[in-house]
Amino acid sequence: MKKKILVIGSLNVDMVIEMKNMPLVGETVLGTQLTYIPGGKGANQACAVGKLGGDVKMLGCVGEDEFGDIQKDNLSACGVDTSYFKRSKTKKTGTASIYVDERGNNSIVVVAGANQECDISYLREHDDIIKECDYVILQMEIPYDAIFYAVNRAKELGKTVILNPAPAPEKLPDEILAKLDYITPNETELMKLCGRDGAQIDDFIEGAKMLLQKGVKNVLVTLGERGALLVNANMAEVFPTRKVVSVDTTAAGDCFNGAFAVALAEGRSQKEAIVFANVSSSIAVTRNGAQTSIPRREETDELLKNMDI
Ligand code: RIB
Repeated sequence: MKKKILVIGSLNVDMVIEMKNMPLVGETVLGTQLTYIPGGKGANQACAVGKLGGDVKMLGCVGEDEFGDIQKDNLSACGVDTSYFKRSKTKKTGTASIYVDERGNNSIVVVAGANQECDISYLREHDDIIKECDYVILQMEIPYDAIFYAVNRAKELGKTVILNPAPAPEKLPDEILAKLDYITPNETELMKLCGRDGAQIDDFIEGAKMLLQKGVKNVLVTLGERGALLVNANMAEVFPTRKVVSVDTTAAGDCFNGAFAVALAEGRSQKEAIVFANVSSSIAVTRNGAQTSIPRREETDELLKNMDI
């Protein structure tokens, strides 16, 4: 039986501007297109779980505005239970301004808006939702005290906790690290969290081991086109991914996180879950936008069928 997944996190509407080259500081460049796309790390991860066939609820906050309706409708259409969303009376739905250059690189500025109201009192009001799930997935775009509250509460209730530390804080408290079943940084986030430099696999393994020493059970590092690295007490292994032509990497990490949780919730092994997540996110980078880029289950399964794994 499929286990239940709860995503607690942010919802943004992404204002995506495509351009040839990113502007330098003080420079003006001409964009080629502006589109509004549902995004936000929490919402993207919930969307990935839903589209890939998981049983998913989301806790998060949007404004009483059109962007809030867009998010709610889109996520519901992707199979996410959004019944418990908070609608802020005073703050607008979160937004992200995203620049994407012709090589598919992006840079993002988030204005949290209503995400600031995804706070401890709201989470306390929905304790029953935390109680009934098996997996809790979190990111770092809602207030930190709410994230830490959710980690503690989920662990107290015996849930499996996955924290995607994005955007990466300078540091995470040791008592929070000790409660994580999985932390899923990308390379840059891992190095920032560990206070180290380096871009080689060995650097990442060393960084991951520092987090293991703090009590994290598994460090799963997304490596972009190099795939993913899993480090735990028994192994340090890189799982390569498919070679694709990337057009937009926005939400690729979110897709990876959602897909990984879906596979674990179906009872697959860690290795199978990483392969599933790698394939799903390799599809996402070939498409534009955040939630628009996330594949449906059939698409991922079709590719997996033809792979020798
Ligand atoms: O991870 C991608 C997401 O980061 C975007 O959708 C944007 O909203 C920001 O939260």
